[in-house]
Amino acid sequence: MKIIRTILELKSFVSAAKTDGKTVGLVPTMGALHNGHLSLVERARKENDIVVVSVFVNPTQFNNKEDLRTYPRTEEHDCMLLEKIGCDVAFIPSVEEVYPEPDTRVFDLGKVAEVMEGKHRPGHFNGVAQIVSKLFAMVEPDRAYFGEKDFQQIAVIRRMVELEGFKLQIVACPIVREADGLALSSRNVRLSEEQRGIAPNIAKTLKGSLEYAKSHTVAETIGFVTDKINSYPQMEVEYYEIVNGHDMQPVTDWNDSDYVVGCVTVYCGDVRLIDNIAYKK
Ligand code: PAJ
Repeated sequence: MKIIRTILELKSFVSAAKTDGKTVGLVPTMGALHNGHLSLVERARKENDIVVVSVFVNPTQFNNKEDLRTYPRTEEHDCMLLEKIGCDVAFIPSVEEVYPEPDTRVFDLGKVAEVMEGKHRPGHFNGVAQIVSKLFAMVEPDRAYFGEKDFQQIAVIRRMVELEGFKLQIVACPIVREADGLALSSRNVRLSEEQRGIAPNIAKTLKGSLEYAKSHTVAETIGFVTDKINSYPQMEVEYYEIVNGHDMQPVTDWNDSDYVVGCVTVYCGDVRLIDNIAYKK
């Protein structure tokens, strides 16, 4: 595996591979890699000749300085995992390399970015669009891989791709969970032992709500999930929204869409966790 730190070297590696007729898959990450990330890399490996994984904690998408400061950084371990799984290139640039000057671009992300994470983390999705558009322009991949754990992020990236006219396929990959149901996240390492014991109740409650939803309204189901999660110590729901999975707009009736997804954000102590579940797909 090659570790590349400059855009120039990345571009020259990719263009040589393309000249040889090879297809390129890109997996953007912020590192602190776990099996969720690795599932995307594995999928990319199956579907492309060359796999590039970017490892970059993107400052422009953090609307909370403390979250950026405490975000786990485990470069050596990440490289070991990537090497083992058969990644071809780990692209690990510095902040100065990616942003030699401030990125002032404002993307017209529209309604998919206005709700949920967009409402609670102002500027977050614009930062995601900035970094992902830069990566797409550098690598020009045939396919790029994203996890459904960040369900709304995929919709935002599809919108950015449409705006910028990138020619690539966005591949959405299922959520990877711990045996007890907790969605894998780089932030899970920040949970105390007690919090780690309680956190699986997020996924458990979402799953339990599938049955509840069969005989209750959307509004009742939102109440059920919110109250249940809030009943656990140290847990506080920031929002639970049940949305149309195509455009992220809240639904009021189960028949509003053929694709209905519940998206939750929970503070477990001061660790912000997200998860989601499909009621209809
Ligand atoms: P990060 O949180 O590192 O996640 C990188 C990719 O891994 C995302 O597409 C995310 O959805 C996926 N992922 C994380 N946990 C997962 C899980 N448990 N199961 C499946 N996929 C999972 O998302 C970002 O970084 C950044 O916003 C990024 C897109 C890299 C832009 O900076």
